[in-house]
Amino acid sequence: MIRYDRVTCLVTLAWLSFSGVLAQEKTATIANPLGVTANDCKACHSSHYQEWERSYHAKTMVAMHAGFKRYITTQEQAKGRALNRNELMGCVGCHAPAMRFSSDEDFARLAQLVKTDQREALAGLSVDCVACHALSASGHPEVKPPEGIDKQVYYGTIKNPVNPGHGAQYASQMEKSEFCKSCHTYVTPADMKVSADWDIVCSLTFDAWAAGPYGPKAAKADMRECQSCHMEKKDGKAAEIDGVPTRKVSSHLFPGWHDAAALRGATEIALATKAGAGGDTELIVTINNKAGHRLPDT
Ligand code: HEC
Ligand code: HEC
Ligand code: HEC
Ligand code: HEC
Ligand code: HEC
Repeated sequence: MIRYDRVTCLVTLAWLSFSGVLAQEKTATIANPLGVTANDCKACHSSHYQEWERSYHAKTMVAMHAGFKRYITTQEQAKGRALNRNELMGCVGCHAPAMRFSSDEDFARLAQLVKTDQREALAGLSVDCVACHALSASGHPEVKPPEGIDKQVYYGTIKNPVNPGHGAQYASQMEKSEFCKSCHTYVTPADMKVSADWDIVCSLTFDAWAAGPYGPKAAKADMRECQSCHMEKKDGKAAEIDGVPTRKVSSHLFPGWHDAAALRGATEIALATKAGAGGDTELIVTINNKAGHRLPDT
């Protein structure tokens, strides 16, 4: 009897530790390979952090989940094998730019986490402060920044920053639409097309802007960069620490189509009636798109 109990007990223990391993695997995240993330900016840049946290740039991995999962599963079916690093980079290059520096094992795990709906595990790989200010803005997103916040250089639009405690470099390109172009223009490469009836359509906003009434084809006085509409300027502190002067700071909320209020403000709908031939009344609907690029984008 005693022996039987001990066996049961051992089996239970073994089962517990086995499911413990499973649970651990289920919740494992992929560490950000840059070591430094938005969390490291929070203490000094709290208002930028709070705005960014609410923006869709903080959700680029979570919000794409359903489409990414569908992409991976249909591609795997079509190819009869797992997707490799390059194929997955075709998506995360914009949605999780730091993954460029991740190991092949992390890429295999990425596909697994997406297929098992563990979206929160990937949230920390979004388009964060470091992705924009150290990778995209440097003009060389393929070069891995040195480890440690004090050794990294953050490009920005302040000409004379006060004691940042990290490298800071004025970068005029950050005031221009070209800066957003690297991620906001996307055409599915031919070898990545999944099937004739389904395609990934991400963002062609840059192209629509460039061809529209505020792009480079406009008269100089009419031209407006993405930042002038999407990163509104107001008086504030670029860092909430002593000795930092009040400056013009840029909103990091990046409102878009997920923001119903902003979207309502983006269009004006005017209704008018006109007497038509034979006593009919014609209804004339005029929609004025104030964005200057396609809405919705896709
Ligand atoms: C060149 C950069 C780029 C690449 C590469 C890219 N995306 Fe995107 N993706 C974007 C941008 C920018 C948006 C936001 C578009 C908008 O809001 O107008 C987006 C939006 C999305 C959305 C909609 C998210 C939502 O909030 O509903 C999905 C899904 C998506 N992408 C999946 C993918 C998949 C899958 C791949 C790989 C096949 C991919 N993307 C490759 C830039 C990219
Ligand atoms: C110990 C406090 C501190 C931390 C932590 C910190 N910063 Fe800063 N940062 C500053 C200060 C101070 C300035 C200068 C502000 C000014 O002069 O108005 C600054 C300026 C900047 C600028 C503007 C540079 C320019 O020349 O335009 C950027 C971009 C920036 N920081 C990004 C970051 C990022 C990204 C992180 C996190 C990875 C971070 N900072 C973490 C204190 C900090
Ligand atoms: C999508 C890219 C992007 C992300 C993500 C981003 N920034 Fe910025 N940031 C910019 C751009 C572009 C500017 C310059 C805008 C301008 O001057 O018109 C800027 C400006 C700044 C400045 C200079 C002062 C100002 O407000 O103009 C600071 C400081 C800064 N960002 C910190 C941060 C921090 C901290 C985070 C993360 C919490 C962050 N940024 C996330 C693109 C980004
Ligand atoms: C004249 C102002 C203006 C300019 C310039 C502008 N936008 Fe927009 N954009 C808007 C408005 C307004 C909306 C829709 C409502 C909102 O959310 O603010 C919008 C929406 C968006 C969206 C969400 C679109 C969707 O439906 O999927 C993205 C992404 C975007 N803009 C990116 C850009 C980029 C990148 C540039 C520069 C290449 C740019 N915008 C230039 C005003 C502008
Ligand atoms: C490193 C890549 C990257 C850069 C650089 C970048 N974006 Fe984005 N942006 C994205 C992705 C990915 C999304 C899609 C978020 C999602 O999944 O819905 C996005 C979403 C947006 C949205 C849509 C928010 C919504 O509610 O749908 C706006 C607006 C936007 N970006 C504006 C800009 C502007 C303006 C710039 C330049 C100052 C810029 N972005 C630079 C990758 C980038």
